Amino acid sequence: MAVSFEQARRDRLAPEIAPVPTAGSKAMSLKFEIHPATNPTPEKERAAKLADPGFGRIFTDHMAVVRYNRAKGWHDACVEARAHFPLDPAAAVVHYAQEIFEGLKAYKRDDGGVNLFRPDANARRFRSSAERMAMALLPEPVFIEAVEQLVRIDRAWIPGGEGSLYLRPFMIASEVFLGVKPSAEYIFAVIASPVGSYFKGGPAPVSIWVSENYTRAAIGGTGAVKCGGNYAASLRAQAEAIDHGCDQVVFLDAVERRYIEELGGMNVFFVFDDDSLLTPPLGTILPGITRDSIIALAKDSGTRVREEAYTIDQWRADAASGKLKEAFACGTAAVISPIGKVCSASGDFLVSGGAAGPVAMGLRKKLVDIQYGRAADPHNWIRKVQ
Ligand SMILES: Cc1ncc(COP(=O)(O)O)c(C=O)c1O
Repeated sequence: MAVSFEQARRDRLAPEIAPVPTAGSKAMSLKFEIHPATNPTPEKERAAKLADPGFGRIFTDHMAVVRYNRAKGWHDACVEARAHFPLDPAAAVVHYAQEIFEGLKAYKRDDGGVNLFRPDANARRFRSSAERMAMALLPEPVFIEAVEQLVRIDRAWIPGGEGSLYLRPFMIASEVFLGVKPSAEYIFAVIASPVGSYFKGGPAPVSIWVSENYTRAAIGGTGAVKCGGNYAASLRAQAEAIDHGCDQVVFLDAVERRYIEELGGMNVFFVFDDDSLLTPPLGTILPGITRDSIIALAKDSGTRVREEAYTIDQWRADAASGKLKEAFACGTAAVISPIGKVCSASGDFLVSGGAAGPVAMGLRKKLVDIQYGRAADPHNWIRKVQ
C-alpha cells in the first residue's frame, strides 16, 4: 500500500512529539515478588570466587527487575535468578543508546551487618539522568527497594575485609521501534558484583593524560548525567592515555579547552599549601556522590573548599611553585586515588613528588570508616540493610 509523503512524515514525527513518560511519583513504591534462584552458586564455588573477586567480572546469583510501559506505568517488580534479557534487535537502546546507570556499594560491617552508602543520592541522580535522557522516571523508593532486596538475597556474596558488593542499577529503552523518539517501554534492573579492595597494599598514585584531542561534555549536553553514551565516547581518549603510558584520562572543557573537568570515571580535587581544597564546579561534570561527601567532610573539619574553575596551565604552575600540595581523583569504585603525575602533549609534571599525599589519604580514611560503619555518621549517609 502506498503511503503518502505527508502520512509518512506524520508517522515519523508523531512519536517524536509524544510526551516524555513521567509516570510514577517520587513517593510511589512497589511490592517486589521474590523468586529465589533454583540452582544458586554452591557455597564452595562462591568462596573461591570471593577469594579474589577483582572488579566487575563476577556476579551474584540474582537481579532485581522492574518494567515500565505507558499503559501500566512501573510494574512487575521482582527479584529473580540473574539471567539474559530477551532483547529484540530493534529495541531502542540498541540503536539510539537510551540508557542510564548508577554505581554504589554495599559494605560488610564488623558486626556482620550491611551498610549502603547514600543510596538516596544515587536514586536522585538516576531520576535526573532519566529526565535528561527523556526516559521514564523511576520513583526513588523503588530504586532503593530494588537495591535493598538484591543485597538482602545475595548478602552471602559481600566480601569481607576491604572488599564490597558493587551494585549496578541501570535502565534500558526496550520499545521495539526504529525511530528517534523516547521509548514507550523500559526495563530497570539491578545487578551486583563482589569487588576486592581497589588497590592492593594501599592506594597507588595514578598518572593521568590530559586529553587535548577529545572532550567529554559541552554545556547543554549530557556530561552531568550517567548515560552509557558518555562512557562510549570517552574510550578513545582513555586509549590515548594508555598509549602514553598513563592510567587515566582527564578532560578539559569543550569551549576554551583549558579548564579541568574530570577523569573518565572520577571527579578531581586539588589541595593547596594553605590546606584549602578546590574542585571544578558542577555543570558539565558528573555530580559525584563521593565528591559531594568529600566536600562535606572537609567543611566539617573547617577546611575551605572552593568549587571553582581551574586551568591546566595553573595546575602546572602551582605544582612547580609548590602552591599545589596534592591532587586526587574520587569516585565510588576507588574512593580516592592520589594523582602522582600529569602528562600531556606539552610535557609532564609531578604532583606531591609522585607520592600519595596526607590530605587525600586522611579524607579517604574518614570516608571509608563511615562506609564500613567504623566511624560516626554525622550526615546520616548510611542506610543499614535489615
Ligand atoms: C564520569 C564520572 N565522574 C565522576 C564519578 C564519581 O561519581 P560517584 O562519586 O558518584 O561514584 C563517576 C563514577 O560514577 C563517573 O563515571
